[in-house]
Amino acid sequence: MEPIEPNQTMKAVAPSEEQGKFTISSLERSSESLEAMHAETIIVGGGVIGCAIAFELASRGREVLLVEQSEIASGTSSAAAGMLAADSEDFAHPFIAQAAYESRELLMKHKDQISALTGMDFGLRRSGFITPFRSYMDLSAYKNKRSSSSSGEKTWWDRSTVQREVTWLNRDTYGAYYRPMESELLPVSLSRAYARSAQMMGARICEGVRDVRLIVNKDGVQGVSTAQGEISCKHVIIAAGLHGEQLMAQVGVTLPSIPVKGEIVAIRFPADQATYRPDRTVYAEDAYIVPKANGEVWIGATSFPGRKDHSVSANSVQRLLGAASYWVPGMKDAVFLRAWAGIRPSTPDKLPYVGKCEQIPGLYAAYGHFRNGILLSAITGRWIADMLEGKSAEEIGIEALSPDRINKKGVMM
Ligand code: GLY
Repeated sequence: MEPIEPNQTMKAVAPSEEQGKFTISSLERSSESLEAMHAETIIVGGGVIGCAIAFELASRGREVLLVEQSEIASGTSSAAAGMLAADSEDFAHPFIAQAAYESRELLMKHKDQISALTGMDFGLRRSGFITPFRSYMDLSAYKNKRSSSSSGEKTWWDRSTVQREVTWLNRDTYGAYYRPMESELLPVSLSRAYARSAQMMGARICEGVRDVRLIVNKDGVQGVSTAQGEISCKHVIIAAGLHGEQLMAQVGVTLPSIPVKGEIVAIRFPADQATYRPDRTVYAEDAYIVPKANGEVWIGATSFPGRKDHSVSANSVQRLLGAASYWVPGMKDAVFLRAWAGIRPSTPDKLPYVGKCEQIPGLYAAYGHFRNGILLSAITGRWIADMLEGKSAEEIGIEALSPDRINKKGVMM
């Protein structure tokens, strides 16, 4: 037996999306120095949010430079399950429920745009989600708990419909909601596809840019300094997820990022077990089970507020596999591939920070998307691009996301 490398079991292992047709050529890497460069807009952070903003700005003909300290989608974006659960998720705010719906539909349009531009495929599929219940009591508890904000299209499937429609689901299932418009994708592939498309439309994407510091004076943002040189600019967008807080703190802006660790497991069904493999996402109370376009099935996720480590515990793997094998009994003979952890960037009120930091002209925040960064990426790009074109938060309808809702001591106003 081959020994297992310790980092495959103990550390986050980014999902291996790049199989078969999802192989993605590297971004064109530029070796030029950043010294004395200028860009109208600098985006700090190459996760899915930063890449979506670069895509939207570049598609509107704006001059944009994205700087990423490591590689595109090497942080939280590489740990996500990639569900576009606009109808299934119970959002903290009705406003986010509407934004999630719009963003999911925008991603559908981006799929075609990106494919025409680059030929890239990020595994986006609309195969619908199932929320199953063990009993009538579980269904009642779900209805009582759920806020009225989540009201997307759904159909009730009773026991016999479930047995007929999803033969691989536990036959004891009491019933399930089926939400046909729900979709899912490969998150790293999406981030790279956004970055590559932005690049093809003129954006500069620079990976491995270390020691980013904001340069501001009394007139506002002047640029950023980095280990590779100083770049002047008019606007800086902080889209650095968990690192957003530190970057903002450099210039005296308090916008806390709250880490919420999550763990995910990947399995694969051998070819002779294909009939047991889910063909739609199961979005249950105790686990989600997501069949991916690369052939894998991802099972998530745990939730540990306040934890930032990337270890994966045996207990979590056991819990996730236990819950999943209740819903999909045929997965007992599936092959375990790997498990990984990621840290979701949350905020005190669980709403992202999107918009202008009024204290510092030219400075914008776009982070703190908690569980919904992949889903809200497309609309966040649109919001930020609209703002840079002069629209106010009120006109766009995103006052609730204003970074200024947090006062200088980091408390909600
Ligand atoms: N978006 C699902 C999760 O964060 O677990």
